[in-house]
Parts: sequence; C-alpha cells; structure tokens
Amino acid sequence: MKVLVVGGGGREHAIIKKIKENKAVEKIYALPGNGGIAKDAECVNIGAKDIENIVRFAVENSVDYAIVAPDDPLVLGAVDALEAKGIACFGPRANSAIIEGSKAFAKNLMKKYGIPTASYEVFDNLDCALTYLETAPIPTVIKADGLALGKGVIIANTREEAVSAVKSMMQDKAFGKSGDCVVIEEFMTGPEVSVLAFTDGITVVPMVSSMDHKRAGDGDVGLNTGGMGTVAPNPYYTDEIAKVCMDKIFLPTIKAMNAEGRTFKGCLYFGLMLTPDGPKVVEYNCRFGDPETQVVLPLLESDLLTVMQAVTEERLSSVEVKFAKANACCVIMASDGYPSHYDKGFEISYPNDLEDKIFIAGAAVKDGALVTNGGRVLGVTEIAGTLSEAIEAAYEDVKEIHFANAYYRKDIGKKALSATEGK
Ligand code: AMP
Ligand code: GLY
Repeated sequence: MKVLVVGGGGREHAIIKKIKENKAVEKIYALPGNGGIAKDAECVNIGAKDIENIVRFAVENSVDYAIVAPDDPLVLGAVDALEAKGIACFGPRANSAIIEGSKAFAKNLMKKYGIPTASYEVFDNLDCALTYLETAPIPTVIKADGLALGKGVIIANTREEAVSAVKSMMQDKAFGKSGDCVVIEEFMTGPEVSVLAFTDGITVVPMVSSMDHKRAGDGDVGLNTGGMGTVAPNPYYTDEIAKVCMDKIFLPTIKAMNAEGRTFKGCLYFGLMLTPDGPKVVEYNCRFGDPETQVVLPLLESDLLTVMQAVTEERLSSVEVKFAKANACCVIMASDGYPSHYDKGFEISYPNDLEDKIFIAGAAVKDGALVTNGGRVLGVTEIAGTLSEAIEAAYEDVKEIHFANAYYRKDIGKKALSATEGK
C-alpha cells in the first residue's frame, strides 16, 4: 500500500512513524516532509498548499491513501480534490474544515446548537467593533476570523489594547484577509485541555487528553508559539469531566455538523477550557494538534492506519482505539529567538538510540548533515509510568541533543505535575 502524507512538521513525523508500523504499508510519501522525515518517508518537494500538484503526484504515483494533516490544505479543499480522483483520504472536506477555517462559523455553530463556549460578537465593520469595545467587559479576547498560524488571538487587558488589536487586524490587515472579520469574545479562565478525537460523523472516539504549552517562555510568559511542549494525559481532565465533554460538547458538535450538511470526518481537535462554569470550547481545529500528536500517538496501542481507514469508510465503531495507561512528555527544542527572528543552518546531532523518540519539525539536509531549518526544530517524547518520570526522561534526552542556538522551555509538564500532586 502506498500512503501519502501532506505536511512537513513534527506532527507529520509522528503520524508517519506510527503509520510505518502497519505491515501493509510499502511506501510513504511526504509532501513536502523535511530533512528529518526523509529517514522515514520519501520527501517530495511539493508544498502542502499546492493542491493541484499534490493531486497530480498522487494520481501519477498510484497512491492508495492520503492523510492531509495541516489546516491550510484541508480548508482549501485538498481532501475534496483527492477524492474527486478516487483517492481515499483521512481528513475533513472543505465544507467541514471550516470549523477551524472560520472562527465566526465555529462560534455561530456553538451558539445555534447550545454548545458551551465564551459569549461573543462577530464584526465585519471596524466602526461597529470599536463602538462595541467602548463598553465591552475587560479583559477581552480579539480573534481574526480566518487562519493566522495560531497568532490571530489577542488577549487585551485594557481597552486601549483591544482597540489597537482590532485596528491592526481590520485596518492594517496584520493577518491579511483573515482579519476582515473579527470575533470579540468573553475572557475565560481555567486550565486548558486539548482533546483530539477520531470521528467518522457517526461515532466520536476521543484520544488521550493532553496539555500544550503555547507561550515561548517558562511560566507561560512571552509570545504565543505553535506549541513548546506537551504532556498526556492532562491531569485536569478527569473521567467525570470527560463524560460532561462527551455529552455537552463532542456529540453535540458532531450532530450539529451533520445537521448543517457538513459531516466532519477525520481528527477533530477540541481546545477546551475548564472554567468555573464547566468545560467550554476555546477553539476547534480540523486536524491533529502540533505538538499534541507527538505525545498522543506514541501512547496509541492500536494500529493508526487501521483506525484512519475505519474513519474514511464510516465504520469507526467497528475498530478498537486503545491507549497505553502511561504518561508522555514532549519537549520542543526551537531556534533561539522563535517565534520572532532566529538563525538557521546549524548542524543537529543526537545519539542513534534517540531516533525513535525524536520528531523533526524544522530541519533540512545540507551536505549530508541534518541542519536546523525552522523555528521549532524538533520534539523529543518520552513515555513512562508516571508523569514526573516522563518529564525527567524527556529532559535527560534534551541534554543529548545538540545544535547551536537551541532554546527550550525548562518547565514543560510542571503545571500538570502540580495538579497531580494536589490530588
Ligand atoms: P486559539 O488560537 O483560539 O487557541 O487561542 C490561543 C490561546 O488564547 C488559547 O489557547 C487560550 O490560551 C487563549 N484564549 C483564546 N480564547 C480565549 C478566551 N475566550 N478566554 C481566555 N483565553 C482565551
Ligand atoms: N497545539 C495547538 C495546535 O495545534 O493548534
């Protein structure tokens, strides 16, 4: 079987490593992949948003199954285009990927179907947004409607900050067309949980929960990043809370999408906040999270490709999706300066025995050597019986991974650990 994976980050590396475990897989293509993924798949220099060439490549190479991992191609209709050529896919079609592609769509869906989320207003007119801000409760949260590489969310602690955020999005076009429309919403408080779920539109199977660390600096300070590390499971996410989420959020979302004629098939990511009023949705993503995938998939004991194919064929309820009763911690090693300016091109080295635990995000091969080529360079994941052991082991690994300019947070899992100690 020939499998094609669209994307080229740490998440895709984790997916590819897991897919490789299936004996039926003879060939994996990664479009575009990266220098590290090249050890596990044939990387082809076609960008993840270049749908025309992705489809052409898949047809010419008789690809049997395509996994579209990043948000952009999903929102742009990569799955629709591949399916039109008869290629089976994992991932939602464009009409359901909109759940991530438009925050206004997602908020309106939640309001219509009574799914708990922060209260909000949507504006496509700058003056109306500014008038609303004159009396809006502060702090408030301003979100660009469209995709913005995870950077289109501003938490404004003062009215002035709120005004300048709205102006930068709507007037100065800081996020291009993604900011033509903005969502202004209530500021919520509480621990955050990421839950990725397989769904075929009929059944929803949540994976083990996780906790991301989005800010660049220790103690959750500094700029928002794509994610600096993760742990799974998330200790705040108790069985009791999981049940509430299933009944009030997961199943209602699947039903709502069906009722709108936008059946969602693939991995639906629920970004949740456990507020004093119960769990609420912060955001939906139409895909696996990065770096959540790097802790969730290593804990998956069932065969990933088998589960994905069951999703595609709408028979998810017929397969087992089993996770190890263990803890995982992934520490992201980035280029110093990320998410702003950083240098790249530095050689990466690590001992061979870490190969299986490392997921490469931003690296290229230059003169036969693996060199840094992005902000987030790689993640290293360890699994252990307890969370503290997993964290300790991941940081032991970090000591053995070298490249000039390496930066990583020193406190991944610390908050989660204090939650377990409180129990
Ligand atoms: P998003 O890109 O929607 O995941 O937002 C990025 C981050 O901003 C989230 O992970 C939260 O930490 C924070 N955030 C987003 N919306 C809210 C909200 N309504 N209240 C408080 N924090 C929020
Ligand atoms: N880790 C957050 C995301 O994938 O959007």
